[in-house]
Amino acid sequence: LTSDHVRIVEVGPRDGLQNEKKSISMDTKLELIRRLAKTGVTTIEAGSFVPAKWVPQMASTSEICEHLLTTPPKAQDTIAYNYLVPNIRGLENLVKIMETTGVPADATGSTSKAATTTEVSLFAAATEAFSQANTNCSIAESLERIKPIVSLAKTKNIRVRGYVSVALGCPYEGPDVDPVKVAEITATLLEMGADEVSVADTTGMGTAPRTMELLLALKAAGIANTDLALHFHDTYGQALVNTIVGLEHGVRIFDSSVGGLGGCPYSKGATGNVSTEDLVHTVHSLGMHTGISLEEMSKIGSWISGELGRANESRAGKATVSR
Ligand code: HMG
Ligand code: MG
Repeated sequence: LTSDHVRIVEVGPRDGLQNEKKSISMDTKLELIRRLAKTGVTTIEAGSFVPAKWVPQMASTSEICEHLLTTPPKAQDTIAYNYLVPNIRGLENLVKIMETTGVPADATGSTSKAATTTEVSLFAAATEAFSQANTNCSIAESLERIKPIVSLAKTKNIRVRGYVSVALGCPYEGPDVDPVKVAEITATLLEMGADEVSVADTTGMGTAPRTMELLLALKAAGIANTDLALHFHDTYGQALVNTIVGLEHGVRIFDSSVGGLGGCPYSKGATGNVSTEDLVHTVHSLGMHTGISLEEMSKIGSWISGELGRANESRAGKATVSR
């Protein structure tokens, strides 16, 4: 990564779709991923190995994963497909599919079928109340649960991403989440072997000053910007403002969702992620690069919003398609 390259992690097919009320066909999900793969984006969150009774929209993740491994969408670059795993069982289910299909996690492996890499994301929260709501256990228990998941992933060459939720505000405990606590959990995930940690403003309560305060706490804990991603939900319209703070501080990995899809089932009232189109537009306006075509991404935002019967939440996306 050069200092003016920003890597965008497209979370629409997972964070975006997990909260949709309307049921979404697997064909639509796969078509979304197939289209995203052609935009220049290099990491796509494709699903979540969670129990269907917790998140019904992610129930088809096994089929999606199998499909992406055996019939990868055409793309210019190697694409990393990432799956959320809440516990060891989630990872075991993913590994089973990889072994059945014979496609290794790392595309540099020997099989020519592997035009993709496979990654996982693990998640912990910065408040006890959110940890209980989202993972049915305390923060300490969730970190204990994560250790063997990271170990198993490493033995299978699977890259690991960690998340720290509610880093800038909690639906149960309010906006004043302790940045030192966020930094401690981030450091713990990295020490366990996570390859990067995405610090998440789940509720969108973050403001520019508190984002800066958080980044300084992460720095004080010795966390390098290269190990860090930022994940902003846009509930209060502050995601791009906070992104600029992150960019100025030196962070170069950001998560976003095409069309601004999404929300979190355990964070009432929180809206979707910042839209990928708006993020790409902002990054490009600063003379920095993403490798992503704003035009192609905008067409997808417009298409998927129509498929889901919801408003397109991307300002830059709407402006781009109507040009
Ligand atoms: P639990 O109920 O304590 O788990 O949930 P359990 O071990 O007692 O199992 C309950 C049932 O699920 C059992 O079945 C298990 O067999 C089954 P039953 O006996 O009732 O028939 N089960 C599974 N099935 C399929 N796959 C599995 C699996 N594991 C158990 N992997 C658990 C604990 C962690 C599983 C649950 O709390 C959970 O799934 N939580 C995840 C919730 C979630 O997905 N939240 C949204 C994603 S996180 C997010 O959006 C935030 C993020 O975007 C960043 C941000 O913005 O903050 C990443
Ligand atoms: Mg999220």
